[in-house]
Amino acid sequence: MRRLDQLLANLGYCSRRDARDWIRAGRVTVAGKVVDDFGKKAAAAEVRVDGESLDHPAGLLLLLHKPTGLVCSHEEREGPNVYSLLPPRWRQRNPVVTSIGRLDKDTSGLLLLTDQSALVHQLTSPKHKVPKVYQATLDREPPAGLAELFAAGTLQLEGEMAPCAPADLRLTGPLTAELTLTEGKYHQVRRMFASQGCIVLTLHRAGFGHLELGDLPTGQWRELPLDAFVNG
Ligand code: URA
Repeated sequence: MRRLDQLLANLGYCSRRDARDWIRAGRVTVAGKVVDDFGKKAAAAEVRVDGESLDHPAGLLLLLHKPTGLVCSHEEREGPNVYSLLPPRWRQRNPVVTSIGRLDKDTSGLLLLTDQSALVHQLTSPKHKVPKVYQATLDREPPAGLAELFAAGTLQLEGEMAPCAPADLRLTGPLTAELTLTEGKYHQVRRMFASQGCIVLTLHRAGFGHLELGDLPTGQWRELPLDAFVNG
């Protein structure tokens, strides 16, 4: 249970100071009764603001179709970010809504966002080997034997301590490929292809674990249950 003023501030409704004004003004009820004590502790499920129950009090897990041109960083100097697509209240939550792993500014596709740090750790830890499916277009036909090389788990990228884990490469056309990775080194797909002389021209993530984008339009998200990854 959290103090009412803290609860509203953490869920992104307003500042803690404004929450105290809202409470004094009678806008907040607990179990159906107006409370004027902003320090009162209450279970989020019993709290209403202006008669409405609280906005995702247990947490958020979102599947976003990331467009190109947006970064996953919160740093303003890195340019427009994916969080700008979300409603202001979600952008003001504490803990903050953050991406589970990152996609480059020029990469589109499936990106998970959450305010649950345990989920971020679970799904980005190399231990869990969550498969991520990338679709790439290349500037030239890849050299023979590339699938075997990527599958061998021996490819050493410059500046990395460990070789890339075995990855599954499927050539889907002369200049298109689908690559499934179970880890997430910096710019990994682009660097794996570049190490063999191919430039990745476009990159799109189509799958993450058991999740797919389906027909979700670019720039849109859908909510997932917080236990979406309980069984993998
Ligand atoms: N690999 C990359 O090179 N870029 C991404 O955005 C994701 C994986």
